Amino acid sequence: MLLKILILSVLSTVLTEEVRYDDYSLYKIYPQIEEHLNFLSDLQKENDGVQFWKSVSQVGDYASVLTSPQERDNLEHLLRKRSIDYDVMIENIQKALDDQIMGRKKRDTRHWLFWTNYWSVTQINEWLQNLADTRSDFVSLIYAGRSYEGRNITGVRIARGTNRPIIFVEGGQIGADWLSPTVITYLVDQLVRGSFEAQRATEEFEWHIFPVLNPDGQEYSQNVDRLWIKNRRPTTGSAIGVDLSRNWNSHWGIIGGSFVPADENFIGLGPFSEVETRSVSRYVESISSRLVSSLSFRAFGQRLLIPFAHNIYPTYNYNETIIIGRRAMGSLSVRHGTHFTVGTSRVVHDGATGSIADWIKHRFNPPVVFTHQLRDEGAWGYTLPVNQVLPSCEETFDSVMAIIREAKFLNVL
Ligand SMILES: *[C@@H]1O[C@H](CO)[C@@H](O)[C@H](O)[C@H]1NC(C)=O
Ligand SMILES: *[C@@H]1O[C@H](CO)[C@@H](O)[C@H](O)[C@H]1NC(C)=O
Repeated sequence: MLLKILILSVLSTVLTEEVRYDDYSLYKIYPQIEEHLNFLSDLQKENDGVQFWKSVSQVGDYASVLTSPQERDNLEHLLRKRSIDYDVMIENIQKALDDQIMGRKKRDTRHWLFWTNYWSVTQINEWLQNLADTRSDFVSLIYAGRSYEGRNITGVRIARGTNRPIIFVEGGQIGADWLSPTVITYLVDQLVRGSFEAQRATEEFEWHIFPVLNPDGQEYSQNVDRLWIKNRRPTTGSAIGVDLSRNWNSHWGIIGGSFVPADENFIGLGPFSEVETRSVSRYVESISSRLVSSLSFRAFGQRLLIPFAHNIYPTYNYNETIIIGRRAMGSLSVRHGTHFTVGTSRVVHDGATGSIADWIKHRFNPPVVFTHQLRDEGAWGYTLPVNQVLPSCEETFDSVMAIIREAKFLNVL
């Protein structure tokens, strides 16, 4: 009986999924000279049969590219003609997506506390509500406005003291990124009932934590198009959605992203053109007088990014930030041996401007601002298997505690 229900629910999930990616393949491409970078940049702009999960701004880094079966031969031909190295990481991405969904359906819903799987927006909100009900002495729900489709942008405030310095945490800006909301719920759980060190962090700081800034995009990714990136607001013509992760008012549109509404990395018609970024920015503004830290989380890349993306020259407290970041990534690697590279986005990642972290640093200059680009380095990308979810949660939590520890050690916090 139980098995039957399980199978039925799996089937219904697969059936409601409208967009399929049969025989789409995931590539990792390694530019070695400037000319390769230019080629990849043109490819991203001009070719509709490829989707860049990660673009590349530096020789020695990599691009992560999904290609349709029709476009595959052409892509390989173009790469070989220019002697650009590449690896095929996944032959059929639909298989990886199905495995994720199967894995997800196996969750035992009688129990709440599982990080062996991805969490949905509904589950996260119910769980946060439950926490606020049962731990009302120091956990409360907070709202940063509503999405375009009217969903609350819900978070929790965790504070055992009063009037403490504030740490702001956010994730889930990209629909297809199921990892960061789940990693953030683990952080919440540890802060609420974890170790002595975690508990102390809730006495010394007030935490304002939003696991999902793009609830519409996340729902759409869960129900219709697994690889949806943007929010769901109709923009121009038949185009829908803006990449919220590039819509913040800090050097908006300078590097990375697209001005073409139909593209999956469309940055919007202007900074803060979207209701989600606008209302969250107002929320951050409202807590800015006590804001000392902002921690952002996204899939994927294994990078710890520090501000700013647009500038190759170190600004503000760059030196301290780099030291804190490197030590924290040392702590992150202890548990599972995962290696994160630390630096500005321009130097170690895609260099895209208009991020929330850059906006917060630029506007309010809190001393500790980091963006975790979580697992992995392009082997699975957004299709990271469920068996890596818990390890990712654990190591990321270790690194958050280490960031606070090291920042206090350097008298930055
Ligand atoms: C949405 O947020 C409002 C506060 O802005 C709250 O009163 C309401 O209960 C929330 N609704 C849901 C479904 O969480
Ligand atoms: C940061 O470090 C560099 C090299 O390590 C040094 O030249 C520079 O003066 C430092 N900047 C500040 C503000 O301490």
